[in-house]
Amino acid sequence: MSATHERALEALAKRGRLRSLRDRRGADFASNDYLALAESDALADAARAALERGVPTGSGGSRLLRGNHEEHEALEREAAAYFKAESALFLGGGFVANTAILSTLPQRGDLVVYDELIHASAHDGMRLGRAATVKARHNDAQAFDDAITTWRQSGASGQPWIVVESLYSMDGDRAPLADLLTVSAKHDAMLVIDEAHATGVYGTEGRGLASDLEGQANVISLHTCGKALGVMGALVIGPKLYKDFLVNRARGFIYATAPSPLIAATVRAALTIVRDEPERRHRLHDLVRVAGSLLAETADIEVSNSQIQPIIVGSDTRAVAIAETLQRAGYDIRAIRPPTVPEGTARLRLTITLHTDEQQLAGVIDAIGTALREHPA
Ligand SMILES: Cc1ncc(COP(=O)(O)O)c(C=O)c1O
Repeated sequence: MSATHERALEALAKRGRLRSLRDRRGADFASNDYLALAESDALADAARAALERGVPTGSGGSRLLRGNHEEHEALEREAAAYFKAESALFLGGGFVANTAILSTLPQRGDLVVYDELIHASAHDGMRLGRAATVKARHNDAQAFDDAITTWRQSGASGQPWIVVESLYSMDGDRAPLADLLTVSAKHDAMLVIDEAHATGVYGTEGRGLASDLEGQANVISLHTCGKALGVMGALVIGPKLYKDFLVNRARGFIYATAPSPLIAATVRAALTIVRDEPERRHRLHDLVRVAGSLLAETADIEVSNSQIQPIIVGSDTRAVAIAETLQRAGYDIRAIRPPTVPEGTARLRLTITLHTDEQQLAGVIDAIGTALREHPA
């Protein structure tokens, strides 16, 4: 290892920011497997059935060469119908999908206004793109409006883009989508909605928090398939024009091996389960309500009312110490530190999934209260 890299890692360790891989241990309060589909018999059976009907494990190449498979096409047809939009494009993951969208669709002369808490993959996409970018205050629709107005007043004539998550990954709060839609209509702006944490959990038929907006000419949404859907990959949903543009211009699509057809087949099964088994998300919503009332009683915590509950503790070292205490008690909860979240807001990210139940929730929330007192700020 070079001295530079060694010093950088030492500096991270000194600040309580060194990351390392650890085993899966303890009760799951950390995964995004919200509907407990990732290890389900239902998806294992679907994958087995796909193998038995001859679906290959590998695609063998880019979709634009020989990698395009009927399973990709079928998934995209079904996803477009399910999300009630003109088209769907399947990519290997949400990260590559976000970078593809934001590096490719906004053009030179355009403006991308993004929520300050947007995911790292959106930042990488914007960095690779040619449009100007400006940050808006979190969940402040007026700030988006003002940013576009100021840009227009400067004489700009390009296309404005608004980029948000529908449910924020580290805060568990929701974007004001109705207000943002009004802002986008006012300015003729495109609205890009990352539904990573809402897909399968919220909305009509589990289609996400933007389920009523999809199909509109100015809306593009991103549904990741590795969280509630329990598989991997991502679906970009929107007007066909943008799918065609991505197929022609997105480097992460063109110059990459197509996702495994077996994975595409399994995602098809996951979409069917989510659509046809609403009881899964209803059960999750019940658990979220239980957790909310327990958290409100136990500690001075702002309840998110979603399956992602941050417990903001401030310093990185405090977050790590509390997470370690909880892990020793048998609960798998992880500390989330800057730069993933803003400076001074290190936190525990408690996720609620169908892997847990009311009794275990009561146990973990009690343990959180105790750990917060044992490790004061
Ligand atoms: C909001 C958001 N967008 C995109 C991604 C990336 O998705 P994937 O894990 O499928 O690459 C994530 C996952 O961490 C996310 O939280």
